[in-house]
Amino acid sequence: MPQLNLFDLPDEKITSTTNLPANKASKNLCTNIFSNQYPIHRWYNFIAGFSPEFVKFCIKAAHLNSDDVVIDPFSGLGTTLVEANLQNVSAIGFEAHPFFYDISQAKIFPPLDTEKIKFLENLLLSIKPYTGSFEEIWSEDALKFLTKLVAEDNLALLASCLEVENQLCEEYKSLFRLIVSKVLEKTALAQTDGIYKAPTTFKKSISFYDSVSIVCKQIYEDVEKLKYDFTPKAKLNFGSSENMELVENESCSLCITSPPYLNNFDFAEMTRMELYFWRYAGSWREITEKVRRRLIVNTTTAPTDLKRNQELFSSELSTSFKLKYLDSIIAELFNERKIRPGKKDYYLLIYPYFAQMQNVIRELHRILRSGSNLHLIVSDAALYGVYIPAHEILSQLMIDNGFQIINIENMRKRGERWLLKKRTGSSKLGEYHIHAKRI
Ligand SMILES: C[S@@+](CC[C@H](N)C(=O)[O-])C[C@H]1O[C@@H](n2cnc3c(N)ncnc32)[C@H](O)[C@@H]1O
Repeated sequence: MPQLNLFDLPDEKITSTTNLPANKASKNLCTNIFSNQYPIHRWYNFIAGFSPEFVKFCIKAAHLNSDDVVIDPFSGLGTTLVEANLQNVSAIGFEAHPFFYDISQAKIFPPLDTEKIKFLENLLLSIKPYTGSFEEIWSEDALKFLTKLVAEDNLALLASCLEVENQLCEEYKSLFRLIVSKVLEKTALAQTDGIYKAPTTFKKSISFYDSVSIVCKQIYEDVEKLKYDFTPKAKLNFGSSENMELVENESCSLCITSPPYLNNFDFAEMTRMELYFWRYAGSWREITEKVRRRLIVNTTTAPTDLKRNQELFSSELSTSFKLKYLDSIIAELFNERKIRPGKKDYYLLIYPYFAQMQNVIRELHRILRSGSNLHLIVSDAALYGVYIPAHEILSQLMIDNGFQIINIENMRKRGERWLLKKRTGSSKLGEYHIHAKRI
C-alpha cells in the first residue's frame, strides 16, 4: 500500500487552512484507509471513521498554543483525540454510543507499560471454554444472533471473557474490552461493511487463541514504541454533544469532527454483534432504547416517537431556513414514499437531523473562541433519489449561528447509484470538507 507523503510536507505547505494540498494524498484524507498503519489508531477503527492524516493536517494548520484545546463533538472511535494525544495537544470529545465510548477510552488512555499487555495476553491465553449454558449469559435474541456469527467453540471461550472481565480491576477493563472485541471480530464468520450479512456472506474466521496473540502483538509493539514520549491529554465525555455544558464558554480553539451522515450508517445496527455480546442490550428494541435514542436521528431506524415529534424539531428551526432549504425536500420525500417500495419515512428524518445538528453547532459556537477553525466532514444524500445537499444546508446553519464558511471541498465521490438520473446536481454526490471559522 502506498504511504502518504503528507506528513513529510514542510509546515509552510500546509499553513493555508482554506485548501488541502492539491496532491493525490488529499483525495484520501477524509477516509481512514491508512489507519491500519498508525500506532493506536490501528487498535480499533471503523468504516465511518476519518483519517489520522486529516486530523494531523488540521492540527498543524491551526498552529495551536500550549493551552489550546481541540474539540470533537462526534468522537466515534477517537481518531481526533488519539491523534491530538500523539501530537501532544489537549482535546475534548463527546460520544453518545456506549460501545464506541468504552473502546475509545482504551485508545485515549493506552497502557504505557507493556507488562499490562503481557498480563492480559497471558490471562486470555489461559482462558478455558465456558461450561454453563449460553442462555444464562445472553438473551434469546442475542444468542440467536451471536450463534449465527461465531462458531460454538470460539463463543464458549468468548463467554468466559465476560466472567473474567468482572474480576479485573478498573484500570485493565477498557483495554481488556478492546482486545476481546477485536478477538470477537476476528473469530466472527460474517462479513460486515456496516451491517452484518450473516449467514449469506462468510469470511475466514481466526481461532480465539490465535486472535488474542495477533491483537496483543500489535498493541504491544505500539506501546513499546510510544512509552517514553507519550502523555495523554485528551478527555472523552459520554453523552450527546447537543449539550456540552461541561465545557466552558470560549475554551476551545479548534474543532475537528464528522457527524453522522443523513441516511448513512445506523451506528447501533453496525455494532449489533458487540452490543449483544457485551450485553449493552438484549433485543432490537433495547438497542433502539439504549443506543439509538442517544444518537442524532439520521436513519429510519431511529425511535418512532422521535421521528413523529416533527413539531418539536420544526419549532427549533427558523421559518425562513425551513422554507428555503427543507420544506420542498420534505414534500418530495413524502410524495416519493407513496410510490416507492418499502414506504420508508425518510421525510421524517429531515427536521430532526437538522434541528439536532443545529444544537451541536450552537454549542460549538459557545465553546469555541472567536477566530477558531472548524473542520467538518460530511456527505450529501439522496433518499429515494431526492438529492439533499446536506453539506450546503449544514454550512447555512453554521452561517446562521455565527460561523463564516471559508471553503467547502469535495474530497471524494460516493454512491452515485442512489441518485435519480433526471435530477440536476446529481453528479455532486460525495464527501465534503467544510472549513468554517467561528466569528
Ligand atoms: C461519523 S462518526 C465519527 C467517526 C470519528 N470521526 C472517527 O474517526 O472515529 C459519528 C459518530 O457520532 C456519534 N454520535 C451520534 N450522535 C451523537 C450525539 N448526539 N452526540 C455525540 N456523538 C454522537 C456516533 O455514535 C458516531 O460514533
